[in-house]
Amino acid sequence: MKKFVIEQSPPLLGEITVSGAKNSVLKIMAATLLADGECTIDDVPDLLDVHVMIEILQELGSEVHYDQANGQLKTKVVDKLKHVVPYDLTAKMRASIVVMGALLARTGRAKVALPGGCAIGARPIDLHIKGFSSLGVNVSMEHGFVEGRVKERMHGSHIYLDFPSVGATENIMMAAVLAEGTTILENAAQEPEITDLASFLVKMGANISGAGTSTIRIKGVEKLNGVYHQVIPDRIEAGTYMLATAVTKGKVLIKNVLTTHLRPVISKLDEAGVTITEYDDSILVDATKGFHKVDITTLPYPGFPTDMQAQFMVLLILSKGMSVVKETIFENRFMHVNELMRMGANIKLDGSSALIQGVPGLEGAQVKATDLRAGAALVIAGLVAAGRTEIYEPDHINRGFVSIEKKLQGVGAKIWRE
Ligand code: EPZ
Repeated sequence: MKKFVIEQSPPLLGEITVSGAKNSVLKIMAATLLADGECTIDDVPDLLDVHVMIEILQELGSEVHYDQANGQLKTKVVDKLKHVVPYDLTAKMRASIVVMGALLARTGRAKVALPGGCAIGARPIDLHIKGFSSLGVNVSMEHGFVEGRVKERMHGSHIYLDFPSVGATENIMMAAVLAEGTTILENAAQEPEITDLASFLVKMGANISGAGTSTIRIKGVEKLNGVYHQVIPDRIEAGTYMLATAVTKGKVLIKNVLTTHLRPVISKLDEAGVTITEYDDSILVDATKGFHKVDITTLPYPGFPTDMQAQFMVLLILSKGMSVVKETIFENRFMHVNELMRMGANIKLDGSSALIQGVPGLEGAQVKATDLRAGAALVIAGLVAAGRTEIYEPDHINRGFVSIEKKLQGVGAKIWRE
């Protein structure tokens, strides 16, 4: 069975360079379906999910060339686009649903296998559908597929999202860029990945304003062109290495970051007593003086990210006293708790809150990565746990972290794949 093996490691010391953002590049790749002409994207991270998105684009009729060594991806729609994304692809990656908006805009039709729930929650797509319907798409659900058809051209509309869903904001934005008239999207998600997608679309010729705020205005245009774009750095990968440094009481310079995107993580680490020094495109994390407990509540951006909740929990497990983690984004994002308890953590779950009683140390154990961020938390726990930790189902981690073992080995961690 494939696994990561980790042995108790010294405090991490040195430098780590962050890769391009997974959750940004996947949407930008979907948006290339809208282009007349070739798109070139730089800083594309070599991740399992990126390879699934390449398969989807090829299935739909795009020519894709990915130079893994240079992290450069080129795409071009060569044939008439197909409109069906089959189940074997959406089953591999939930985010496949995000091609729907671009397909509707480009071909007037999209049929995508429903991704279903996953380890962190039911994850419905009602808000995506509400947005599409409001733009004039006839949406139906049959035999496990969601299908959208547009009679002539989508028309701009006023859409209010009940919750600032990242995926729905992106899908609606990609559908509205070629619609007739203006779309106003209210209570939109404000994550940096939304802003990155919008800036890609604007370069292509789209007319979008307000991305990164809660109200986005999209004035439809006739066509979009192929362009060059460089993906933003992955704020969650950066945050994960910041936490690995803090938990091991190390000192690491995290390079290739946009510090504003990391504000909530920086301020919580600062509150926990870790010294953070910000530079133009790097952050020095110095935890050699230790850390102490804080409470965390996950919220839509600019709140504390749900994708950092599991990793931060490891720091709280090893902090004196009782701390509370409240998860407000996903209904079931505590799968890592049982695994961390097998390593000696003392945690009680109470609905959407985890009550964490600090313990002096953790013990290595055989554990399972249930999703990619839970897997990252187990890696961090393994670095400080006494003895040997084995993490099974490592593919979850490969979905979202480029060469995690090599990057950590570079700062002194004892981690390898078997
Ligand atoms: C994106 O998922 C990210 N995935 C997630 O990262 C991230 O955790 C999440 O945003 C929140 O920041 C990608 O970008 C590929 P949402 P997404 O729509 O778009 C509910 C990771 O670890 N909801 O903002 O699916 C939903 O069930 C992943 O990299 C509806 O009810 O997130 C959830 O509870 C995991 N109806 C909440 O909103 C809808 O139509 C937030 O979901 C859509 C969402």
